[in-house]
Amino acid sequence: MKGPNFVNNGITFKGCGSYLPTQVLSNEKISQIVDTSDEWIKTRTGIESRRIAEVDENVSEMGFKAAVSAMAMADWNSESVDLIILATSTPSDLFGSAPMIQSKLRAKNALAFDLTAACSGFLFALITASQYLSSGKYKRALVIGSDQLSSYVDWKDRGSCILFGDGAGALAIEASNDQNNLFGFNLRTDGARGSFLNLYNKKLDGNIVDQIKFRKGEFSNISMNGQEVYKFAVREVPIIISELLKETNFDSEDIDWLILHQANQRILDAVGDRLKINKRKILTNLNKYGNTSAATIPLVLDEFIRNHKIKKNDIILTSGFGAGLSWGAALLKWG
Ligand code: COA
Repeated sequence: MKGPNFVNNGITFKGCGSYLPTQVLSNEKISQIVDTSDEWIKTRTGIESRRIAEVDENVSEMGFKAAVSAMAMADWNSESVDLIILATSTPSDLFGSAPMIQSKLRAKNALAFDLTAACSGFLFALITASQYLSSGKYKRALVIGSDQLSSYVDWKDRGSCILFGDGAGALAIEASNDQNNLFGFNLRTDGARGSFLNLYNKKLDGNIVDQIKFRKGEFSNISMNGQEVYKFAVREVPIIISELLKETNFDSEDIDWLILHQANQRILDAVGDRLKINKRKILTNLNKYGNTSAATIPLVLDEFIRNHKIKKNDIILTSGFGAGLSWGAALLKWG
């Protein structure tokens, strides 16, 4: 018979994993390179330290380690994985770092590609993967968030260098034809406000031959208008979450855990207050790792699943936001 050969599926969550580099950069150490203090950083951001990848580490390496751990929890063998999406803004290969992860995992049946949406990247990748799974054609996906922002931070800019760190996290998700644990999602982009946070390609010209010039492929440092990004997050995140709750017929009291992109403790508190979500439901590890961009959400998930705070069937509301500008929210049930 001609026509579609697959039906819509739901998705379920089977495993998680993470990887953090071992080098610890404390606030005290940052105070040795810029005019700041542990007290200032802690009060204004909640961050106490962050991890910095070694020179021989990169996004694929970190993402691979997080993926191995997620696959072990899911009890999957490499050949059963058919999709790998790597959310990153700091690829180890501009042509794509996900294929390196696929190769190291020996996941030879998996389609693998990168997706870039800065600190919303993990959420965008999760929703992208869920669409592949719900098509019925793909069954098992690894969604990885891995970033190495230390390579692009301006270590002389005290307004931004205090915030960022490196790390990776991963989720193993599976198609199911009798269950859907992804209740809903909402994703947004506003490129008109993109100048508030960016990592531009430098305008450096080179010469090939005669008058034929080209633009060299080098990137600048992270450039950020902290106050504008702060206002954006505190305003837009509660709106998108409220819309999602309404669309899915959930109340904020139905939520077991709120996992927000780990940018600044004051942003987390303000969003929680606006949504009237009890502080004890807001999970964070920002103090230890800072803002690891696409890795923050799976890093929090992995930590609190492994320490048994998040349990099977818990309802998790999650939201990512950042450069683009981009932001989004998803509502899911763990398991
Ligand atoms: N140490 C000490 N002083 C600092 C400092 C630092 N690390 N960074 C900035 N300051 C100073 C400023 O120079 C300014 O001094 P002035 O009043 O003499 O001009 C003062 O502190 C206040 O600066 P401001 O930018 O208003 O601080 P803030 O309270 O907004 O905090 C951020 C700055 C960056 C921590 C905050 O804006 C923020 O977190 N924004 C969101 C950024 C973010 O999350 N980005 C990633 C999104 S994915």
